[in-house]
Amino acid sequence: MKWIVHRLRALASLLLLPGELFGDWLHCLRWGKGSPFSPSQPSLYYDIVLLAHTVEKGLSLTDTRASFGQQKIAAVLDLCDQYDWSGPSFPLQMAYGALSEYREFHSERNIDLGEIGSKISKFIERAEGQGIEPKGGTVTPRTQIDGLSPSDFLCSRWSCRDFTPATVPREDVERIVKCAQSAPSQCNRQSVRVHVYQGKHLIEELLRLQGGSGGFSQRVSNLFVVTSETFAWSGAKPRHQPYVDGGIFAMQLGMSCISHCYGCCFLNLAVTNRHEKQIKQAAGISQAEKLILMMAFGVPNARDRGAARSERLPVTQVLTFHDPVG
Ligand SMILES: Cc1cc2nc3c(=O)[nH]c(=O)nc-3n(C[C@H](O)[C@H](O)[C@H](O)COP(=O)(O)O)c2cc1C
Repeated sequence: MKWIVHRLRALASLLLLPGELFGDWLHCLRWGKGSPFSPSQPSLYYDIVLLAHTVEKGLSLTDTRASFGQQKIAAVLDLCDQYDWSGPSFPLQMAYGALSEYREFHSERNIDLGEIGSKISKFIERAEGQGIEPKGGTVTPRTQIDGLSPSDFLCSRWSCRDFTPATVPREDVERIVKCAQSAPSQCNRQSVRVHVYQGKHLIEELLRLQGGSGGFSQRVSNLFVVTSETFAWSGAKPRHQPYVDGGIFAMQLGMSCISHCYGCCFLNLAVTNRHEKQIKQAAGISQAEKLILMMAFGVPNARDRGAARSERLPVTQVLTFHDPVG
């Protein structure tokens, strides 16, 4: 009897799922980036931050091409024009830092940027005039973790996009994943699975399908794909839980790579269901698992200015104390 009640509850939860998914869609329509019903300034804020980051990422790569990303630069300049400069300055700081380093990169090589160059200079003049501080660009990553305090260790994490061709030994991969298994999971259900790839051709194919590692995919010799078994989750309420548990596990996996003296870079798998099926097929992953993300890892090839700066917001913009005591 108890078993039948349990099954009926699970079925009811499944039947509620379309309604909840519809609610998710309405939420995106009302508040999502780019929706005509959502306020435009916050969308612009994020669009500028994302595009400025692609510029600093491009500058940090080993094989940075001259005049790369001109379309993106034109787009970021256009978005900055539409942005309300009296609002939060973070996107403008990111754009300013990334674009001034872009200009510097080309002037050091005596490359004339033409019309886009004058647009960048105009933007920089305006930013300077308004007292905006440049915050995007590149930095030299920290690779030594010996002797760091626990909090300095956590803060030392960075996205590595340049690895040596070395294959990480199997024992190290096992150690890394075992350590990541200390991640918490909802009711300890441990639905997360980790798939590892170390063959050049399959990695190339998977990164091609992933699409976010342009400019450095050829430098990846070790790749994780993190998934969550769908059997662990039923119906309406935990519909996002595979991503919550998967994301928490992935973070622990990344830190575990670093604690074992390897570098890593999270790679998004924000894809359509159709694309997800294709990736799982190519990767030999069961269709019963949901893809969470990919992670390039391996021995970092650390260079001067070899990482995107990825400036963080002031903590006061992230943290809200509600109902303070006293
Ligand atoms: C879920 C997720 C997906 C990401 N996807 C990509 C990606 O596709 N390509 C990439 O180069 N970096 C990717 N990143 C790395 C971010 O760009 C990076 O974490 C961010 O800019 C902060 O920089 P940091 O990791 O160096 O501190 C991803 C990060 C996360 C958390």
